[in-house]
Amino acid sequence: MSHPDVTGPACAAPRPLSGEVRVPGDKSIGHRSLLIGALCDGPVEVTGLSHGEDNLATARILGQLGVRIARGIEPDGTPSPRATVHGVGLRGLSPPDSPLDCGNSGTTMRLMLGILAGQPFEATLVGDASLSRRPMRRVLTPLAQMGLEVLKTAEGGLPPLTVRGRSVLTEIDYATPVASAQIKSAILLAGLYADGETRVTEPEVSRDHTERMLAFLGRPPQARALDVPGDLSSAAFVLAAGLLVHGSDVTVRDVGVNPTRTGFLDVLAAMGAAVEVGDLREVNGEPRADLRVTHARLRATSVAGALAVKAIDELPLIATLAARADGVTRIRDAAELRVKESDRVARTATMLRSFGVTVDEHPDGLDVHGAPSAPLSAGDIHADGDHRIAMCATILGLVAPAGTRVHGADTIASSFPSFYDVLRQLGVDVG
Ligand code: S3P
Repeated sequence: MSHPDVTGPACAAPRPLSGEVRVPGDKSIGHRSLLIGALCDGPVEVTGLSHGEDNLATARILGQLGVRIARGIEPDGTPSPRATVHGVGLRGLSPPDSPLDCGNSGTTMRLMLGILAGQPFEATLVGDASLSRRPMRRVLTPLAQMGLEVLKTAEGGLPPLTVRGRSVLTEIDYATPVASAQIKSAILLAGLYADGETRVTEPEVSRDHTERMLAFLGRPPQARALDVPGDLSSAAFVLAAGLLVHGSDVTVRDVGVNPTRTGFLDVLAAMGAAVEVGDLREVNGEPRADLRVTHARLRATSVAGALAVKAIDELPLIATLAARADGVTRIRDAAELRVKESDRVARTATMLRSFGVTVDEHPDGLDVHGAPSAPLSAGDIHADGDHRIAMCATILGLVAPAGTRVHGADTIASSFPSFYDVLRQLGVDVG
């Protein structure tokens, strides 16, 4: 899916960024709308769905399991944000006749394993090079306790995985050692196939989209319309661009602000950047709002503990902003970053160093030595199958001398396929 030789366009900010934009639907909520929608007892109308590669992988796999997803094509040729998921009920999935390709998406593989645990058939899950390096035992171990048979894995419990589920699972009360919504969600989805109550406790609270959606749709889930808010993890890049470029004033409309996801906004406040939150409202159990920032002078901060979990996907971007903040920003308790789409501790450090920023790497985080106006060099970065590293580099490139190159930038399409279009709408010169 990602080709390291595809270099992204040179992006420059010749003037302040300004305007109002929307970003694609939340990736986490999109996966759950498709997966839980498929388990409903009838057609589920989903709106606001992203056409990012990760959500497309989930939809494609559900097709292999016999779920019909009707989705139009937009005038620009991209899949429509509106889809009808023809739910087949908890027991209506059919055995696939070929491996289920999860592409770059860890959420697809892990949540799908939870559902497959409750299916009385065999399935093989595969992923791209990045996903094939990501740990799966953390999900296979609790699911095996519930009754999933793990028939085959690569060395170390890595994908490809061949599993066989069964119709009725055993409920568990599981204390997960890692705060991970993917582990929690896989267990909760498998719990739909157990007679008793399944419980998960975690060391810190991870995102709770699965719990909210199951509360909204019921157990077993009943078909109801779902609208997906814009993805805060994508909006974050737009807000960061507005904060970094002098004179900017940027609004992102209709963004999910689930409190288990808003660590980025808390960190920005601590760095001295006020994000204006407007029109706060709740739709199908998920809060959303319009977010506005203007350019701000940033100061260093510390991110650790519960805050690191609430901002997990934004930590590379926080480190990127920290490069332009006054002082040393410390990020800790973030060892999980090492098992994301790439080793994001190492990759973030390499990316920032390529711009001339001083960074100290720690086992569970980074120290970034920032200065608002220290000279940067043009960066030369390899995304290595990691969309967020590619976007961080592009954003920092806006305030670096011309010439930043981001190799493998096509991986951005996994979460934010309209990234360059949105930057263009705000006045960035996308070469
Ligand atoms: C996600 C959970 C997080 C996050 C990922 C999406 C989800 O992963 O990093 O981008 O949708 O459940 P972990 O659960 O592994 O922390």
